[in-house]
Amino acid sequence: MAQKLAPYDRYKETIEPFCKQGIILVSGTQGNPMTIGWGSIGVYWGKPVFTVVVRPSRYSYELLIELPEFSVNVMGDDYKKQVAYCGSCSGRDENKAQVCGFELASCDDIKVPYIRQALFHYECRILNHADFMEEAMNKEIATRFYPQKDYHRAFYGEILGLYEAREKHD
Ligand SMILES: Cc1cc2nc3c(=O)[nH]c(=O)nc-3n(C[C@H](O)[C@H](O)[C@H](O)COP(=O)(O)O)c2cc1C
Repeated sequence: MAQKLAPYDRYKETIEPFCKQGIILVSGTQGNPMTIGWGSIGVYWGKPVFTVVVRPSRYSYELLIELPEFSVNVMGDDYKKQVAYCGSCSGRDENKAQVCGFELASCDDIKVPYIRQALFHYECRILNHADFMEEAMNKEIATRFYPQKDYHRAFYGEILGLYEAREKHD
């Protein structure tokens, strides 16, 4: 059985790869993996919340609107190649999970799957979203990151569960 941990128990282990190679957001019932490098784990409305930011051009953006749930999967160093691939190719063109050899498994708390090879994963239900606004944005950030004005949308997902890899605990 997977071991269910408290929502903030893997904070440091999540932030470190988040800042380096990235971690994997999975959305949609079919399980589309997309690499993310921005986001946060925090508190909103008195709940533990994983916030991810996604540009409107991503296939994942459509999937998150269609089904307001996601899993966030932290992969070990053996999966750096696959993480890079999921950040350079769209689920509109490829079945990325299949190409990467990711085994998708049912989550306990949401309809979106998680990646069985992940070290641990979060299961989240979206409570809210908010679009970054040009008029409120620091000018340097706007010029550097948004020359095409394709501002990210922040999706706020309540952390319903954080689970450690099944393999370790079966
Ligand atoms: C390390 C890394 C981090 C990334 N972080 C984000 C992110 O936080 N938000 C985002 O919208 N795109 C991010 N991307 C780009 C998407 O992963 C990429 O555009 C992907 O192909 C989109 O997949 P999809 O169309 O299947 O959703 C990142 C890419 C890499 C390589």
